[in-house]
Amino acid sequence: MAEPVRVLVTGAAGQIAYSLLYSIAKGDVFGKDQPIVLVLLDIAPMMPVLEGVVMELQDCALPLLREVIPTDKGEVAFKDLDAAILVGSMPRRDGMERKDLLKANVAIFKSQGEALEKYAKKTVKVLVVGNPANTNCLIAAKSAPSIPKENFSCLTRLDHNRACSQVAMRCGISAEFVKNVIIWGNHSSTQYPDVHHCKVNVQGKDVVCFDAVKDEAWLKGDFISTVQQRGAAVIKARKLSSAMSAAKAICDHMRDIWTGTQEGNFISMGVYSTGNSYGVPEDLIYSFPVTIKDKTWKIVDGLAINDFSRAKMDATAAELVEERDTAVSFLGV
Ligand code: NAI
Repeated sequence: MAEPVRVLVTGAAGQIAYSLLYSIAKGDVFGKDQPIVLVLLDIAPMMPVLEGVVMELQDCALPLLREVIPTDKGEVAFKDLDAAILVGSMPRRDGMERKDLLKANVAIFKSQGEALEKYAKKTVKVLVVGNPANTNCLIAAKSAPSIPKENFSCLTRLDHNRACSQVAMRCGISAEFVKNVIIWGNHSSTQYPDVHHCKVNVQGKDVVCFDAVKDEAWLKGDFISTVQQRGAAVIKARKLSSAMSAAKAICDHMRDIWTGTQEGNFISMGVYSTGNSYGVPEDLIYSFPVTIKDKTWKIVDGLAINDFSRAKMDATAAELVEERDTAVSFLGV
């Protein structure tokens, strides 16, 4: 059997982690034959809660789970990592501005980037989930200069999955028959869910999304705003941010990094923008359509972009530039 992979989950006493850890530990992400050492980081006051999570993981009696290491110390948490899933942060509460969240969180991601630099393997794959995810990811990457920026990505797969599901429900089919939706830009309400390259499989045949849905006004209106506002709608209903669906999206994202995307399919993730064909400003973590092979992502280049899409892609880029500049001025990185 293979050597265990060492996987860190931060915010491990929180609600996303509670939905996430079982799936990772039973092999949904890194493979059904891949043993795992799970390292669980949270802050000191949460250690008693984390102890309970550890007990539950032990009580699952999972064959792949070789060891569980709970800690509140960076030098333990980040040591020799193969994968880091950075969830821990201050979550957005009802009515909270993204700017407040940015201030509270970028400092965390700076110090975690520094810890990755110091302790993790240089091959570590880092997935940032804690919001504002794109900018937190950029700050972590900048704070770990000896780890390739390509090893960092942020979660927009939840938005991607939401978009697939909205189209699928509209067509009365299963979400597995919808492929190649794109989330462009920021994991925020300026994100642009784009279906111009999306295909819907109707009775065994791939059909252009606009032809399958047969409602252009909906696709260019309520569909977009529903996906953009979905996180806020869940918070309003649950009084807590998305957890079960976020955990599922984290698994989808990391599994695709580990095992690759299917031929002919692309997925969305926030990655470092440099030299792309879409005119997205450099030095941002921006969500693009990507394919993945051998644990390496590649932006799907050359897709036709109409004026409708262009304006929305630019608006979300402008928000990210502003967010980055605020974060950088705040931290001096
Ligand atoms: P939660 O509040 O239930 O858990 C967060 C955990 O992080 C807490 O246990 C807290 O003690 C811990 N934490 C805080 N600072 C930490 C630090 N410096 N190091 C390690 N742990 C730390 O929050 P929840 O619901 O699990 O959400 C976590 C984050 O994920 C939030 O920022 C939320 O906005 C974000 N999120 C992102 C999504 C995405 O699609 N990118 C989707 C859903 C949530």
